[in-house]
Amino acid sequence: MIKITLTTFKITNHWFLFLLLLILVSSCKTEQKAPREIQRGKLADSIMVVSAREEASRIGAEILKNGGNAFDALIAVDMALNVAYPFAGSLGGGGFMVYRKANGEIGSIDYREKAPMGATHDMYLDKEGNPIDSLSRQGPLAVGVPGSISGMFAINEKLGSMPMSEILEPVIQLAKNGYAITENQLNRFQKYAPVFDQVNGKEVLYSIGFRESDTLKIETGNFIKNPVLAETLQRIADNGKSEFYEGETAQLLVDFIEAHGGIITLEDLKNYEAVWRNPITSTYKNIKVIGMPPPSSGGVCLAQIFKMLEPYDMQEFGHNTVKSIQMITEAERRAYADRSFFLGDPDFNDIPIDSLISKAYASRRMQSFSFDKATPSAEINHGVISGYESMETTHFSIIDQYGNAVALTTTLNGAYGSKLYVDELGFFLNNEMDDFSVKPGEPNMFGLIGAAANKIEPQKRMLSSMTPTIVEKDGKLWMTVGTPGGSTIITSVLQTILNVADYNMGMQEAVDAPRFHHQWLPDVVIFEPDAFGEEILNSLQNKGYEIRQENSVILGKVDGVLVLPDGTLEGGADRRGDDTAVGF
Ligand code: DON
Repeated sequence: MIKITLTTFKITNHWFLFLLLLILVSSCKTEQKAPREIQRGKLADSIMVVSAREEASRIGAEILKNGGNAFDALIAVDMALNVAYPFAGSLGGGGFMVYRKANGEIGSIDYREKAPMGATHDMYLDKEGNPIDSLSRQGPLAVGVPGSISGMFAINEKLGSMPMSEILEPVIQLAKNGYAITENQLNRFQKYAPVFDQVNGKEVLYSIGFRESDTLKIETGNFIKNPVLAETLQRIADNGKSEFYEGETAQLLVDFIEAHGGIITLEDLKNYEAVWRNPITSTYKNIKVIGMPPPSSGGVCLAQIFKMLEPYDMQEFGHNTVKSIQMITEAERRAYADRSFFLGDPDFNDIPIDSLISKAYASRRMQSFSFDKATPSAEINHGVISGYESMETTHFSIIDQYGNAVALTTTLNGAYGSKLYVDELGFFLNNEMDDFSVKPGEPNMFGLIGAAANKIEPQKRMLSSMTPTIVEKDGKLWMTVGTPGGSTIITSVLQTILNVADYNMGMQEAVDAPRFHHQWLPDVVIFEPDAFGEEILNSLQNKGYEIRQENSVILGKVDGVLVLPDGTLEGGADRRGDDTAVGF
């Protein structure tokens, strides 16, 4: 064919070579993949706040615009979520914050709830020694001593640039003037209103208008005002931290808890202190991951999983392919088995962190891995470390105009925590006690199994999965990220970072991409529904993986900010919620 063409056109050798070259070049071109166009989220020049509610993101962004720094803004956002996102907002709960200052200094604060002094290891067991789940999950005994106000004041003192009263002012106005409820919120309030009535023994702010029997029903877009919470916040603004832990608010809180049969005392509140801790740092290729140390398991597990993945070419395997899903699942399985055995409150346990996150340990843990078939969790125990003696949440990310970055995750644990609503103070109380290992080997509400390291002891902090994380690339600030989602938090944060680091996604794309999760036990890989092809799922099943497709909300609602090469900030606000990025 070519010969005929050549003879027909009497093409010289010279022309023939030129033509051949042309064909080669154009065929190369068609084989080369056009570079993927990144669909960016919200872009901004100098400040970005991404949180679960637009009102909160806006209040934080305004503080920054008026010259405040990221630490001032985080307090305002956290407190505003308490008003506009009572699902998880934190006055009655606790959390963790990881930061990186513009000068590269890093740190983290733990204001996790603690077990009351009257707590005992068997407080949730019946006479036969079996757990009574409802006791650690709902009502007065489920409540841990709240840490949020202590955390916010400690942050303000060490890193803030504005007085607390000024920071709280817009939040107090929000509580007074109200916030418009979204469809998601309406659905949730309607679902929980009967439970609120039952747990509290009377109607509360968040049940009136949401019950089927109510004649005047609240609808999407209606405003909810919380003047009682505005008064509580005003007292805190006027009198400082001691208002919550020793003052009138403390007394009202303790009286309320006692009247409902709880065990938190004034002494418990007085004794509460947030703690500054050294973050967990580790590397994955050219990025440095700065994570939350115990009592959160987030930083350790994330570092372990990255170290187990590092020797493999995840980029080559491709995003959400059978091979990459297998790799991530197997690394997660091994890290969560270790979590269950080794991790707990560092003030009560000796935790071999350096060994757990080392390269050598990661490679030993992965020796049993094969692409041919799943490693059953029954065959995976915690690892062996020589010399070691065994003995509903919300996240937001901020980068300010000065280059400071914060990642903060805070929680009441379950949706609206214990469902106990302190009507004289205007907020829900947590049910964080369920994050303890109520009985060794028994799963908590997230199916997580615990051991002695996380058993209930007075004044101890319960183990958490919250994973507020900051990432550096080539020594510079690159990303701040985190999510709610109970046990799935760690794996959602992991996949989001990998999506940008290895799969060339933007922040918004990385946050929105479909996710999956494995946590050692139960031995099942959970996938977001209808997001992974049948072929992939069948292939995994053939290799021995048990597959389940679950409602997307369970697999996190990631909020992050990415610094682009030219310094522009890209916000990623998870499509799975009402999350909003506000930037300027
Ligand atoms: O600290 C923990 O790990 C849990 N209390 C977090 C709970 C949570 O993320 C619920 N939100 N979906």
